[in-house]
Amino acid sequence: MTQPLFEKVAFIGLGLIGSSLARVIQAEQLAHEVVASTRSQKTLEDAKALGLIAAGYSDPVEAVKDADLVVLALPVRATEYVLQQIKPYLKPDAILTDVGSTKGNVVDAAKAVFGEQLPAGFVPGHPIAGAEHTGVHAGKVDLFANHKVILTPLPTSADWAVNKLIQLWEAAKAEVICMDVDKHDEVLAHTSHLPHLMAFNLVEQLANREDNLDIFRYAAGGFRDFSRIAASDPQMWHDIFFANKKAILNAVDGFEQQLAILRQLIEQENSQALMGLLGHAQAARQHFNHMLAKKPLMENNKVTQQFTILPGSKNFQGKFTVPGDKSVSHRSIMFGAIAEGTTHVTGFLEGEDALATLQAFRDMGVSIEGPKNGEVTIHGVGMQGLKAPAGALYMGNSGTSMRLLSGMLSAQAFDSVMTGDASLSKRPMERIAKPLREMGAQIQTTGERGTPPVSITGSQQLKGIQYDLPMASAQVKSGILLAGLWAEGETAVTEPEPTRDHTERMLRAFGYEVKTEGNRISLQGGGKLVGTNIQVPSDISSAAFFMVGAAITENADVTLEAVGINPTRTGVIEILKQMGADITVSNERIAGGEPIADIRIQGSRTLKGIHIPEDQVPLAIDEFPALFIAAACAEGQTVLTGAAELRVKESDRIQVMADGLKTMGIDCTPTEDGIIIEGKGKAGDWSPVFTGGEIESHHDHRIAMSFSIAGLRNSEVIKIVGTETVATSFPTFTQLTAQAGLQIEVTE
Ligand code: S3P
Repeated sequence: MTQPLFEKVAFIGLGLIGSSLARVIQAEQLAHEVVASTRSQKTLEDAKALGLIAAGYSDPVEAVKDADLVVLALPVRATEYVLQQIKPYLKPDAILTDVGSTKGNVVDAAKAVFGEQLPAGFVPGHPIAGAEHTGVHAGKVDLFANHKVILTPLPTSADWAVNKLIQLWEAAKAEVICMDVDKHDEVLAHTSHLPHLMAFNLVEQLANREDNLDIFRYAAGGFRDFSRIAASDPQMWHDIFFANKKAILNAVDGFEQQLAILRQLIEQENSQALMGLLGHAQAARQHFNHMLAKKPLMENNKVTQQFTILPGSKNFQGKFTVPGDKSVSHRSIMFGAIAEGTTHVTGFLEGEDALATLQAFRDMGVSIEGPKNGEVTIHGVGMQGLKAPAGALYMGNSGTSMRLLSGMLSAQAFDSVMTGDASLSKRPMERIAKPLREMGAQIQTTGERGTPPVSITGSQQLKGIQYDLPMASAQVKSGILLAGLWAEGETAVTEPEPTRDHTERMLRAFGYEVKTEGNRISLQGGGKLVGTNIQVPSDISSAAFFMVGAAITENADVTLEAVGINPTRTGVIEILKQMGADITVSNERIAGGEPIADIRIQGSRTLKGIHIPEDQVPLAIDEFPALFIAAACAEGQTVLTGAAELRVKESDRIQVMADGLKTMGIDCTPTEDGIIIEGKGKAGDWSPVFTGGEIESHHDHRIAMSFSIAGLRNSEVIKIVGTETVATSFPTFTQLTAQAGLQIEVTE
């Protein structure tokens, strides 16, 4: 046995929480000796019989003698009395902690006993792992596993004491969080105490009705779910409600106000506002789950999803409709929100990036129905109708959301802050902040590199500018034009090369005049948008993975239906054609102001390496990771230049692709603004060109999907880690590849 954490642990109280922690200490051999004191002799006997304690005492004084850890696991109201008793008998360096649901009153009790200079070993704690059941028999060794434990170290608490408690709770497989005492009580008032109060209240309300038996007999699932916690211990909750009185009363006031709003909407049959409120709440519920689930994307955390692709020859065939265009989906929400009247969207991409935009506008008071099967209805609030969001707007992985919204938010009458995930938090935001400042915006980015969070001070009158874009970026162009909607006079942007023009096209579809004269795009501020119907085409950037997949697989035959072929996006078709791919574009038509077509690609001939024309770079900017896979399968060298922008996408796509290609046995050289790839293909030979290995996606959806496609030509197992971001743009990716013939095993 390694040296245990503690010599002697004393529990004062041995109910659900105390006995569960005692079980952990025994199971993990964290102490030489565990003892307890409770008022019930029977509990002590049962605990001994269960092997949880070596000795039990009715007097806490006996238990704490020589103990180096004392855990108060008793009702919070008894804290002061017990501390008074045990104070003279505590070892000077003993660690003293508790497990109560409120912390301010525990600290007050300790101060009443010890005075302001509390013992260095005193660190209050709160495992958030209760259950309705109580008592020594209800305890479980895994009660804390995957639950949070909040420690509230005080200014007097010593680091060694805090560290040992962290080790203890981590041994219980809990996630330990340190927090200030007041913050703890305020947070818990909202997340735990108010819901318990509401559950007790609802059951009481129904129990007092004459027909209560019928009501309980026919209680539906909703009532059961909602009222489960009303079966909790009344004495404990009585104590908590008093102990955290101030914060709980605040939470109750907030609840009453919100309830009054809901009541009024129902009374007045205000359908639109009610849908808005319910939709916002539903989305917020999903969104916070999602934000929490996103935690693994944050720095220093483990990734959550992995793809595995086995070697062996594969087929790649079929007709597919890939999901809606990401760029168009974002803009449909943004423009619908600030338009007058209603906007109906079909084909909306229900991926996390576009959903982040949708949530941001809900957070700014816009009533949005859906998305449901790609349909969204937005009740526009007009140019002056956005409202201040309650907190920071979370943009997830989405650079488009953050850059376009930077422009819109700079012109609003309220302050705002935008944050993002680990990948977005590294991306440059000064490229949009700088021109916006020239327009009069007050906008701040973070750190030396000018990254998120982005903070904007509202109520600035913007004026139009003439801006020469230093880089070919549709996001920056769009952010400036959108700020220009509210600016005085003309706002004009000149691009070094044409970039995607969805903003211009869609503003026109909403009735806003936008001029395009060569590379100069301009509009006059002060106009208005009128709600319309938007049909989102399938995303050519998602289709690109299937295009490359078919081009590198023998006898492949894939048709992608109704794909957007806006000429500012078709670089991938042109480049693949120049590499010799067998592609036909047919059935060209217009849908929702954007050209669409069916694209058929057959795996009938080996691709050739080329020098990619620089004028194609902005037109294929998102498709290069997939094109690099094509280049690796081509015969001869492929050279890309003039593509430095790739280094500031969701990851540094030049470096990350080069690393991955090398892992998979491909000879390549990254350069400052491109890459040289030595293709391993030979005419007429469809054998594997990639070996296998482990690829890190760096929170970049397109890296993950590109190396998945390499799994059509691999000789060893490919593992891709960190693939959860695929859901940002192509949530059905693995289902569709499986239908085509490429099985990807997904492990969470
Ligand atoms: C986008 C513009 C491009 C592209 C991104 C979407 C847009 O970014 O890479 O996926 O919707 O405007 P840049 O503007 O940074 O080139």
